[in-house]
Amino acid sequence: MARRPIIAGNWKMNLDHLEAIGLVQRLVYHLEPRDYEATEIVVVPPFTSLRSIQTLIQGDRLDIGLGAQQCSEEESGAFTGEVSPAMLSRLDVGYVLCGHSERRTLFGETDELVNRKVRAVFAHGMLPILCVGESAEQRDAGEAEAIVTGQVLACLEEVSAEQAASMVIAYEPVWAIGTGRTATSGDADGMCATVRSVVAGRYEQSVADRLRVQYGGSVKPGNAAELLRQPDIDGALVGGASLDADDFAVICRYHRTR
Ligand code: PGA
Repeated sequence: MARRPIIAGNWKMNLDHLEAIGLVQRLVYHLEPRDYEATEIVVVPPFTSLRSIQTLIQGDRLDIGLGAQQCSEEESGAFTGEVSPAMLSRLDVGYVLCGHSERRTLFGETDELVNRKVRAVFAHGMLPILCVGESAEQRDAGEAEAIVTGQVLACLEEVSAEQAASMVIAYEPVWAIGTGRTATSGDADGMCATVRSVVAGRYEQSVADRLRVQYGGSVKPGNAAELLRQPDIDGALVGGASLDADDFAVICRYHRTR
């Protein structure tokens, strides 16, 4: 079964809601129906832009998916500053990033907490994009595979086979995020294959065959084609280059060059 590639643009803490609208408008100007058919395209703006982008997507009937950068693992209540999964699903958010390395390193998110967020996202009818990846020190110590395997297994606790098959896992080596350093296409593909085999072992092969595994970390127009043509890479999680409509469109249109 062919897996449909998914390209998601993680805007991080950039752009106000007016700039966000402008970026999506410029992006869709470049895209044609065959692009949306070939590839699932998702934008992941900050919370403050979700409503504006939802309205734009609905009003113009855009075939663009909406993602959130994180969410609370709690249902509701006295959690000042947090945003619940129910609030996101009401805004037609389809995907939520869980365990991005910046959340793990800057905000202390552990695998256990990420797992709770993954389950909360599923409970509200959305799909997690679970981010995993090793640091430079871990890679240099030869621990990359063990670290990524451990993250995948811990974050899939109490996740059903059907849920696992429907979600996305993004392999993002921490040393490649925002640094301009990309993993070689072979290394990236190898680790994405490892993620898939871990999922096959935890569930069964048919689950792993359906799972989409993205690569993330300094994906740019110049290296996207080489990465995206690898057999175990089913798309990209794009940070910096997703803030430029021209660059992000080139990455989304990669299939045209295949
Ligand atoms: P980058 O970010 O493309 O700017 O390296 C990727 C990410 O953090 O998802």
